[in-house]
Amino acid sequence: MQLHETIASLRAVRARAGPGKRLALVPTMGNLHEGHIALMTQARDHADQVIATIFVNRLQFRPGEDFEKYPRSFAADCERLEQAGVEHLFAPAEAEMYPQPQTYQIEPPPGQAGILDGEFRPGHFRGVATVVMKLFQIAQPDVALFGKKDYQQLMVIRNMVREFNLPIEIIGGETVRAADGLALSSRNGYLSAAERVQAHNLYRVLTKVAEAVRAGSRNWGGLEHDAVMELQASGWIPDYVALRKKLDLQLPSAHDSGLVVLAAARLGSTRLIDNLEV
Ligand code: PAF
Repeated sequence: MQLHETIASLRAVRARAGPGKRLALVPTMGNLHEGHIALMTQARDHADQVIATIFVNRLQFRPGEDFEKYPRSFAADCERLEQAGVEHLFAPAEAEMYPQPQTYQIEPPPGQAGILDGEFRPGHFRGVATVVMKLFQIAQPDVALFGKKDYQQLMVIRNMVREFNLPIEIIGGETVRAADGLALSSRNGYLSAAERVQAHNLYRVLTKVAEAVRAGSRNWGGLEHDAVMELQASGWIPDYVALRKKLDLQLPSAHDSGLVVLAAARLGSTRLIDNLEV
């Protein structure tokens, strides 16, 4: 695997790849787990060369969030990527990505980025969209992969790509879960042993909502309310549980199908998100 620490070095990959060669980009913030590795493997099916990126993007963290303590495990990450057969790793220093304050930023519309997680993390999706746009400009991939666990992020990126006419295919990777159902996340490592035992309840409650919808319930508000209560009863402090349309994450009408149930909740000081397509 080739390590690229500069923009110039990564740009040269596109130039060297030659005509007709497909490049896949898998952006990450590191601390890689099986979910990331599944994306790398999936990327291989769509491209001749896979480029992983590791960059903890300060722009998408709000003051007081976990930017400083976000887990960084570069050596172990490199080993996993090597094992996964990834050809290129782009791991720039902050000064390479943001040599001066990033005054031009991508502002996704509030109807997409100010709802759900965006309501609790104002500006988060602006930071995500901005860094992803920069990564796209630098790597110039044919295809890019993002995990469905960050469902709203995936929607924002898809829409950004469409509206800016970027010639990049966006692929969503299925969420990878631990044996008890907890979605793999770099932030799971923040959970204490006792919290880790409780953590599966997030998935359990989402599963219950999804099953109720599949069984014909259309009382979205009632289902969300019951889910919040159940999460609270198992020690979680929910920010939201929401049934939305998969396509645009807007409120569904009673006739809509193609839904997703999304949740964000805190267990102790750890905030996790998860979702299930229905
Ligand atoms: O999902 C993530 O890890 C990040 O939000 C991303 C897409 C790498 C942008 O920093």
